[in-house]
Amino acid sequence: MLQDDFRVAIDIGTTKVCTIITRRRPDHRVEVAGIATVPCRGMSKGMVADSQAVTNAIEESAALAAADAGVNVDKVYVGLTGSHVESKNRWANVPRGDGMRAVTDLDISAAKKAAGAIDLADDRKLLHVIPRTYALDGLHGVRNPLGMHTGELHIESHVITGSISKITELHNAVSDAGVRVSSMVVEPIASADAVLTAGEREEGAVLIDVGGGTSDIAVYHDGAVVHTAVIPVGGYQFTNDLSIAFSVDFESAEELKIKHGTAAPELAGLKEEITLHPNTMEQPLTITKREVGQVLKERTSELFRMIMLKLEEPHLADIPTDRIVFTGGGAKLEGFLNIAKYIFQRKVRLASPRGLDGMPEGTNDPSYSAAVGIALWGMRNLPAENHVSQRTNTATSVGSNADEKARIGAFSVIRGWLPKREKEIAGA
Ligand SMILES: Nc1ncnc2c1ncn2[C@@H]1O[C@H](COP(=O)(O)OP(=O)(O)OP(=O)(O)O)[C@@H](O)[C@H]1O
Ligand SMILES: [Mg+2]
Repeated sequence: MLQDDFRVAIDIGTTKVCTIITRRRPDHRVEVAGIATVPCRGMSKGMVADSQAVTNAIEESAALAAADAGVNVDKVYVGLTGSHVESKNRWANVPRGDGMRAVTDLDISAAKKAAGAIDLADDRKLLHVIPRTYALDGLHGVRNPLGMHTGELHIESHVITGSISKITELHNAVSDAGVRVSSMVVEPIASADAVLTAGEREEGAVLIDVGGGTSDIAVYHDGAVVHTAVIPVGGYQFTNDLSIAFSVDFESAEELKIKHGTAAPELAGLKEEITLHPNTMEQPLTITKREVGQVLKERTSELFRMIMLKLEEPHLADIPTDRIVFTGGGAKLEGFLNIAKYIFQRKVRLASPRGLDGMPEGTNDPSYSAAVGIALWGMRNLPAENHVSQRTNTATSVGSNADEKARIGAFSVIRGWLPKREKEIAGA
C-alpha cells in the first residue's frame, strides 16, 4: 500500500485545523485516505496568535487523519495566509546567448531560474514563482514557447512573498507538532485549484475564499494566476458584530448567525422572531431576523468594498473578470450571493472543492476548499515524495488513554467519518 503516492495537506484556519491524507492510486486518480478536522482558536486573521494552541490542534488533527488512513504522518504541505502575503507580476530576461534559435527544455529551465532570481527585502521570503507567459522577441502572450524560434526570450511570472517572521511562526507551530514541513502553499492559490473550472481559469475569474479570519483572493486569466491578495476580514468579524449589536457572548452570536443570519434582510420574512439572552439584560430580548440581517448586511457590504479595492489594480484593468467564485465557510451566509451579485454586477456562484475522490459526508463543503486545494496543488506542482510511513506503533497515536479519547471525540466535527476513526483509535 505504501508504494502509492501519499501526500498530506494541513489547512491551519482561523476556526479549524484540517488534515487530509491523499493517495494517488495506480490509475492516477487521487483519493482521500484519511481526513480529520479539529477546532482551533490559536490563529488570528490567518496568523499564529497562540502557538501552543495551534500546535495542539495540528497534532490532534494529524494524528486523527493518520489513524483514519492507517499510516504515520511524517511530512506535510501547509497552507499559508494572512495580510503579510504579497504578490506582483514580474518580467525577467532569460540569458541564452546571441542568435535566433528554437526554444529548448534547457531554455525553459533557465527561464524559471531567471524568474526566481529576485532581490528581496531582508524580512521577506519567496513563496511561489508561477510562470504565466513568455515573450519572444517582443511578441507577448506565448504560453508554451518550446520549439519556437526567437532571439530574445522573456518570462512573465506571478511572484508571491511573505513575512519571514510570520512564516517562521507557522513553520515552528507545525514542527512542534512532530511533523516536518515539506512545502508551504499560499491558500488563495490552493483554494482556486480546488474550485475553479478550467473554463473559469481560461476566460477570467475571481476566486474569493471567505474564511473565519481572512478573505483570500486569487484572480485567474488565460489559464494562470494573475493576482493574489489577502484581506484580514472573515466570518469572525460578522459574528463579532452580532455579539456587540445584541450584547450576547461570541458563541451565542455565532449560533444566531448560523441559524438565523442573512446578508439580505429585505428577503427575510417580516415575522420571524428570535429570542436572545443579552448579558446586559435580565429579561430575554426578542428580535427579528431582519434586525440580524441589517447588521450582517452592513458587514457584507463593507467586505465587498474592501474586495473591490483589492481588485482595482492597474494590471487587472484589461482582465475580463466577469465571474466571481466564492468559497469558504463565511460565504455560506444566507443572502451573501444576492448582495454580491448586486454590488459586483458580475456572475457569482458558491463553490465546494472538487478533484478528490472519496471525500466523506460533511466534507464536500466550501470550508474544505483550502485543505483539498493544498493537497491537489502539491500533487500537481511539487516533486513526488511520500509524506507517510508504515504505521508501526498504534499506541503512540492520539487517543491512547480514555481521557484523550473523550476529548477528541468531543472535538470531532466530521460525523460521517467518526465510526471508522473511533474504531481505529480504539485499536479495533
Ligand atoms: N451557514 C453559515 N452561515 C454563515 N457563516 C457560516 C456558516 N457556516 C460557517 N460559517 C462561518 O464560516 C467561518 C469558517 O469558515 P472556514 O472554515 O472556511 O474558515 P477557516 O478556514 O477556519 O478560516 P481562515 O481561512 O480565515 O483562516 C466561520 O466564521 C463561520 O461562522
Ligand atoms: Mg480557510
